[in-house]
This record gives sequence, C-alpha cells and structure tokens, in this order.
Amino acid sequence: DLESDKVVIEQFLHGREASLIVATDGTRVVPLVSSHDYKRLCDGQVGPNTGGMGTVSPSNHITAAQEQWAIDNIIHPVLKEMRQRGTPFRGFLYAGLMISDDGAVNVLEFNSRMGDPECQSLMRRYEGDLGELLFALSGSADSLPKLSWSAASVVCVVLASEGYPENPVKGDEIFGMELASSIPGVVIFHAGTTMAAGKFTTAGGRVLNVTATGSDVTEARTRAYRAADMLQFRGVQFRRDIGM
Ligand code: GLY
Repeated sequence: DLESDKVVIEQFLHGREASLIVATDGTRVVPLVSSHDYKRLCDGQVGPNTGGMGTVSPSNHITAAQEQWAIDNIIHPVLKEMRQRGTPFRGFLYAGLMISDDGAVNVLEFNSRMGDPECQSLMRRYEGDLGELLFALSGSADSLPKLSWSAASVVCVVLASEGYPENPVKGDEIFGMELASSIPGVVIFHAGTTMAAGKFTTAGGRVLNVTATGSDVTEARTRAYRAADMLQFRGVQFRRDIGM
C-alpha cells in the first residue's frame, strides 16, 4: 500500500571500496592511514552484506592523489556545510568510497565513527597518544596533533558466529585464545564475547577480530590466518581472502 510521488534513481557504482577516515575538530582535518573493508560474508565478495568481515591497512585501493582529492572535494565541503547549518561535526568522519574503474572517487556512505573493523587495524598502526587526539577533537586544543603511524601492514580477520548475519547463534565456548595470542604480531580484539564460569563464550554475530602486523600484507595475512585457524567455536565462519 506504499504510495509516493517520488522515484529516486541512483547510479550503480562499480569499482574498489576504500574507507577514508579523518579526525576533525569541525574545521581542521587530519586523515588517518588508509584501509579497506570486506563487506560480503563469503570469499570473492559473494553472500549477504555484513558489518565487515575484515580489513587491511594500508589499502591498495586508493592512491595518495585520490585521497587528497577526496579530502579537498568531499570531506572539507561536508564539514563546511555542517558548520553553516549550525551543526559542526567533531570526531571521526568516515567516508565510504567507491573508486571506479576510471579512477573517479565516489561516496557510498558517511559514518560518524572510526569504522568497525577498520578501527582495529588502524589502532594496531597508531603510535600517538589517543587521549591527546580526542582532547584536540573536542575543540579544546589550539591545533590538531600530527598523527604518527607504524610502517607495518595490518590484516584483521573477523570470526563470526554460526548464522551471522541473519540469525547469529550465541553461547558457544571459544577455544584457543591463549595459543592464538602467542603468535608474533597478533592481537585479538573481543567484539561479541562474554565470560561465563571462567570461559569465553560467543555473545554476538561478529565474535573476535584477529589482527596481525607484518612487514608487508603477506606476512600480516599469514600470521592472522595462523591465529584464526587456532581459534575454535561451534559454527565459526570467516573469510579466507582478507588482504588478498
Ligand atoms: N566497516 C564499515 C563500518 O564501520 O560501517
């Protein structure tokens, strides 16, 4: 019974996605290092859309020139418009970009966050004082700090529960945390877990974020998948092609 006098026709965008995330106090902008997300559930970008099954940083989907173009032509105009509307934006502004085959930079979406699971990869590379940065973004500092980043590559693999994204099953015990965490460069972030009777159990759709650093993406990926293979819970699902 829906009726409308409006039809919106949108351009179909084909290309490679990149997540451009900047820190801003409403006027000034410092970009975070590049990353990209893998949104489909299954290898090869098939299956249902998810909140993100993994990330890699740096991203080879966007060049430095495309990133600068996006800051000048997308990020700054958005911030200017928000100031003019009396609702200046402070914090982390996330532009989900589609880089078309001809090199054009298109906006798919904006988020007001550091991205999930982009944040996990970015925090493995961030070398500054996060408190100082957040204080500056609140508008309380004279300038934004210069951000320093490790030259390492990072791969983050999301371990999801059975039935995710439609009907995630919860309450299964997670095995292998200690062993997986002992691999060099690996840090495991908890996303949908809880502890019951001294044991970690699944408590959400995206359960664990397995991150690994490496001198290049290949090393980071090898370590991340070594750790992912050691982690077990009933029905665990994850992509095998993050960072490929
Ligand atoms: N990874 C996409 C998002 O945070 O929306």
